[in-house]
Amino acid sequence: MTYQFILSEKIKRVGLLRINRPKVLNALNGELLAELAQALEEYDKAPEIGAMVITGDDRAFAAGADIKEMAEMSSVDMLLRDRISSSWDRLRAIKKPLIAAVSGWCLGGGNELAIACDMIVASQSAVFGQPELNLGIFPGGGATQRLPRTVGKAISMEMVLNNRTLDAEEALHYGLVNYVYPLDEYLEKALTMANEIAARAPIAIQLAKQAVNRAFETHLAEGVNDERQAFYLLFSTVDQKEGMQAFIEKRTAEWKGR
Ligand code: HXC
Repeated sequence: MTYQFILSEKIKRVGLLRINRPKVLNALNGELLAELAQALEEYDKAPEIGAMVITGDDRAFAAGADIKEMAEMSSVDMLLRDRISSSWDRLRAIKKPLIAAVSGWCLGGGNELAIACDMIVASQSAVFGQPELNLGIFPGGGATQRLPRTVGKAISMEMVLNNRTLDAEEALHYGLVNYVYPLDEYLEKALTMANEIAARAPIAIQLAKQAVNRAFETHLAEGVNDERQAFYLLFSTVDQKEGMQAFIEKRTAEWKGR
């Protein structure tokens, strides 16, 4: 499938999606977000793909939602279009692991997109921020909820209220990103990590992602209970039998995804 605002390619068992509006620092317009959601859903269904990487270019992952698209909108326009539900909620429903490979500006909706992914690999030039207050609005794509759960209340408040930005090393320090690499390595490293994950038992990966995400969505007893049910469920998969038998026979497991 060809898209207008994103580039999509398969690299081994990974679906790589590049946000492609370089002239406007990859600002996220509605069409782009819809394309991104659709491409992710396609890869989510594709048995040959085990994980996805979302990236921008070296200068910007994304400098936020497209301000020019939103500038003249009314509340009713925003409500009726409801791009947040029709893009972020679709992203959240993706079952396979998502890695954001971030370089340069990662602001506003761009940062919200990155933190909605499961892991972030950053280049040394990455800058993370929520500058929406500068525009007379505040973050609407999940940052007021996901950011405190990731970096804690103190830094989140500064980022949301006072345009505090985090450079790559600070983002690593506060647990926003998994790794920081030089500019010429970050994407390759993200793809390597995604391919490693993609080589693992597919059903266990899917349920593991779901279980970890529950930790951010529910209280402890319910989360632990959900974990246990999913854990027991895995014992009805071919891959559990294969994985344990392979260990006993001292050989590499061959996953079937069944
Ligand atoms: C539309 C944008 C844009 C954006 C940059 N551009 N960010 N267009 N929406 N979010 C455009 C500029 O208008 C300019 O176009 C071109 O990209 C290059 O940007 P410059 O400003 O000239 O670059 P620079 O001086 O290097 O400054 C980089 C920057 C700045 C600091 C990142 O562009 C900036 O502050 N951008 C806005 C960041 C922001 O406020 N993001 C939050 C958006 S609201 P022209 O045509 O002039 O060359 C949001 C809400 C999310 O994200 C809600 C949930 C979905």
